[in-house]
Amino acid sequence: MSDWPRVRLHVVTGKGGTGKTTVAAALALALATGGRRVLLCEAEGRQGIARLFELDPLPYEERLIAVAPGSGEVTALAIDPEGALLDYLEMYYHLGRAGRLLDRFGVVDFATTIAPGLRDVLLTGKVYEAFRRRGADGYHTYDAIVLDAPPTGRIARFLNVNAEVAGLARVGPIRTQSDGIMQVLRSRGTAVHLVTLLEDMPVQETADAIRELSAADLPIGGVVVNRTHSSPLDATTRKAVAEGTLAPADLVPALSAAGVDEPSPAAVATGLLTEAAEHVERLDLEERLHEQVEDLDRPVYRLPTLTDGVDLGALYDLAELLCEQLA
Ligand SMILES: Nc1ncnc2c1ncn2[C@@H]1O[C@H](COP(=O)(O)OP(=O)(O)OP(=O)(O)O)[C@@H](O)[C@H]1O
Ligand SMILES: [Mg+2]
Repeated sequence: MSDWPRVRLHVVTGKGGTGKTTVAAALALALATGGRRVLLCEAEGRQGIARLFELDPLPYEERLIAVAPGSGEVTALAIDPEGALLDYLEMYYHLGRAGRLLDRFGVVDFATTIAPGLRDVLLTGKVYEAFRRRGADGYHTYDAIVLDAPPTGRIARFLNVNAEVAGLARVGPIRTQSDGIMQVLRSRGTAVHLVTLLEDMPVQETADAIRELSAADLPIGGVVVNRTHSSPLDATTRKAVAEGTLAPADLVPALSAAGVDEPSPAAVATGLLTEAAEHVERLDLEERLHEQVEDLDRPVYRLPTLTDGVDLGALYDLAELLCEQLA
């Protein structure tokens, strides 16, 4: 992707419900386009990726879930903290069977729910492992990794948790691991993208998150403005609606000619003008907020509102739109 040539880890955050999972999935498909191998990770264990790709819930295991144009591959991984803890115990303490024994005694559950910080250490640790992994050919297993990350309110803390750990452990394998993770997360190999809607709260949270991320030295990527609207009104009509110079009587001839006359052409015209006024007000608000987004001084990408929702076909369409804008 020519906008982010050096980035291999794309972290996608945003206010809840703005489209993080949708955008992360579309970005993974876009990055895979042309034959690349992309890992799409989910950190929250909510099976959003499976739902989006119309699959059964994903196990804690990397699984090929989609192909992209040009023989690209998207592999998915729903990271669960318990699985990640067992991986960790195995990797650093070779606690294969003993680890599973701990699991049986409920220790793993205890450790991952009682200490939310530990949970984030494990999740980011797993992403780090996949980021660094190389195949027998010496090449990275994945050309890029996309992380469907926690929302804006928690993102800086989530990505920074290993800096806190590094502060606790002065030496040893934990220190080495947490230093390694922070090095990757703060490098030019990482970009944290923010998804927003053109609404007050999401735009405000985007601005706040950018401030927090830069304070924590984390690299900020682009802003994806999701669910934009286009207008069927031309500039002249829009102005007339905004200024209230259009009267119901102006619409009546056209409505009558089109046969739209229930209960009466005048009543339909009045209803339409009310809707048009709301629509224009909304467009004005979106334009104002779009300017605020531009002022954040990051690359901005736009994805339209899909009126029929996001099914698998629509996801590919969004990916193509991202591809065009990233090129
Ligand atoms: N461009 C779009 N057009 C239409 N619907 C969309 C679009 N993007 C997302 N949606 C819909 O909005 C809803 C929320 O999207 P999504 O689940 O991706 O958000 P999220 O930020 O991951 O939410 P959460 O915070 O719950 O994880 C979903 O129903 C999704 O299908
Ligand atoms: Mg989600």
